[in-house]
Amino acid sequence: MDKLIINGQKKLNGDVYISGAKNAALPILIASLLSKEELKLKNVPNLFDIKTTEKLLFAMGVEISKIDSLMKLSARDIKDFHAPYDLVKTMRASILVLGPLLARFGSARVSLPGGCAIGSRPVDIHIKGLEAMGASIKIENGDIVASTNGLPGGKLVGAEISMSQVTVTGTENLMMAACLAKGKTILENSAKEPEVIDLGNCLIKMGAIIKGLGTDIITIEGVEELNGAEHSIIFDRIEAGTYMVAVAMTGGELNCIGVEPDKMISIINKLRETGVEVIESDNIVTVKSNGTLKSVSIETAPFPGFPTDMQAQFMALNTIAEGVSEIKETIFENRFMHVQELIRMGADIEINQNTAVVRGGKMLEGASVMATDLRASASLILAALSAKGTTVIDRIYHLDRGYENLEKKFNQIGAQIERVN
Ligand code: UD1
Repeated sequence: MDKLIINGQKKLNGDVYISGAKNAALPILIASLLSKEELKLKNVPNLFDIKTTEKLLFAMGVEISKIDSLMKLSARDIKDFHAPYDLVKTMRASILVLGPLLARFGSARVSLPGGCAIGSRPVDIHIKGLEAMGASIKIENGDIVASTNGLPGGKLVGAEISMSQVTVTGTENLMMAACLAKGKTILENSAKEPEVIDLGNCLIKMGAIIKGLGTDIITIEGVEELNGAEHSIIFDRIEAGTYMVAVAMTGGELNCIGVEPDKMISIINKLRETGVEVIESDNIVTVKSNGTLKSVSIETAPFPGFPTDMQAQFMALNTIAEGVSEIKETIFENRFMHVQELIRMGADIEINQNTAVVRGGKMLEGASVMATDLRASASLILAALSAKGTTVIDRIYHLDRGYENLEKKFNQIGAQIERVN
C-alpha cells in the first residue's frame, strides 16, 4: 500500500492546473447509458473513481476509448443491467446507473450501498423518486431490483417529485431518468451544485429538454431517445479550493488555472476572511498569503452554501490560524474522522455532536497519520505541508480516488512530497 512522506514548511509558489471535476465526470460518464450514440467527453480527470466507473460501464457493455483526458463512450449494446456489490461498495456514486438503465431499458439491478437500509439514508430519495415515476422496486439479496414492467410501453412516466432533502446524486439520478420518461417531470428541492448543472448541460446537448438548472425546481420534458454529443467537464472546485487553502497555510503566491471563480464564491469568501488575498480573473484565481491567518467559523450547506467537501481542509487551516473557530457539519454525520489525526499532529480540537471547536494558533508537528476518507486525507496533506518536520500519511488510496497527480502538482509548486510503496 502506498504512503506519502511529506517534509513540511515549504512555501508554495507558481501555477497549478486544475483538473476536471470528479463529481461532474462521474454522472456524465454514466449518462452515456442513456443513448445508443457516442458521447465524447473532454477534460475527464484521471482518478481511481473514474476507473471504477469505466469498469462498471464496461461490464455492462459500454465501449470506451480513452486518450489522456479525452474519453469516448458508446452504449449501443448493453447486455448487463447489473451494478455489483464489489464496485458499488468502493464508490457510492455507482447508484447513478439506476435511473438511466431503468429509463432506457426498463430494468436495473444495483447493489445497495453498504450498511444502508432501504427507506432510510442514503438512497431512499432516489428510490422514492423512481417509484413516483411508476417503477416497481424491491430489495433482493442486497440489491435494488427495479423495473418498469406494467407501465405503458415499459416507459417511466413523468411525475412531480418533491425531494425531502437536497441531494446531489439523487437530483442527478432522477433528472437522467426523467429525460426518457413519458411526459413532464418536475423535481422540487433540487440540488444546485455546478456539477449538477454540468450534467444537465451535457444532457441538453444530447437532446434532453431541461429547464431550471441551478434553481430549486428542475423541469424535464421526456423525449423518445437521446443522441450523441460532445462535452467538456467543468473544473474541480474542491481540488482548486484544496490548493488555495494549502498556499494560504504555507504562505506564497499561487495561480489556480482553469477555474471559474463564480462557481466557488463561498470558498473564496471564506478564504478572504482568513486575511489572505484572493484575486479573481477570467479563468484564474490567485492566492497570496504571508502565512499569517485568522481563524474562520464555518457551517456546511448545499450549494451555494459552504461545501462539506471543503470542511476538513478549512479545519486544518483553523488549527494554525489565530483564534477560536466553530465548524458545524450539517450534511453528513460522522464527517470528523480527520480530527483525531490532526490532534496527533498537535491540533487542539473538541467535538460536540456535529460541531467542532478549534483552538488555533498551534504549530503542527510531523507525525505518522492515517487517511480515512477522501477529504479527510486532503486535510492531512495540508496539515503536513505546514507542519514542522516529516509526516507519513498511510492509506492514501482515498486521495487517488479524487485528486489527479496530487504529489506531482504539489511538488511543481515547491512542496516536498514523496510516494513510497
Ligand atoms: C455528493 C458528492 C459528495 C458531496 C455530497 C454533498 C458526488 C459523486 N458526491 O454526494 O462529494 O459530499 O454530494 O455535497 O457527487 N440523503 C438521504 N437520502 C437520499 C440521498 C441523500 O437521506 O436518498 C442525505 C445524505 O445522507 C446526506 C444528504 O442527503 O445527509 C446529502 O447527500 P447527497 O447530496 O445525496 O450526497 P451524494 O450525492 O451522495
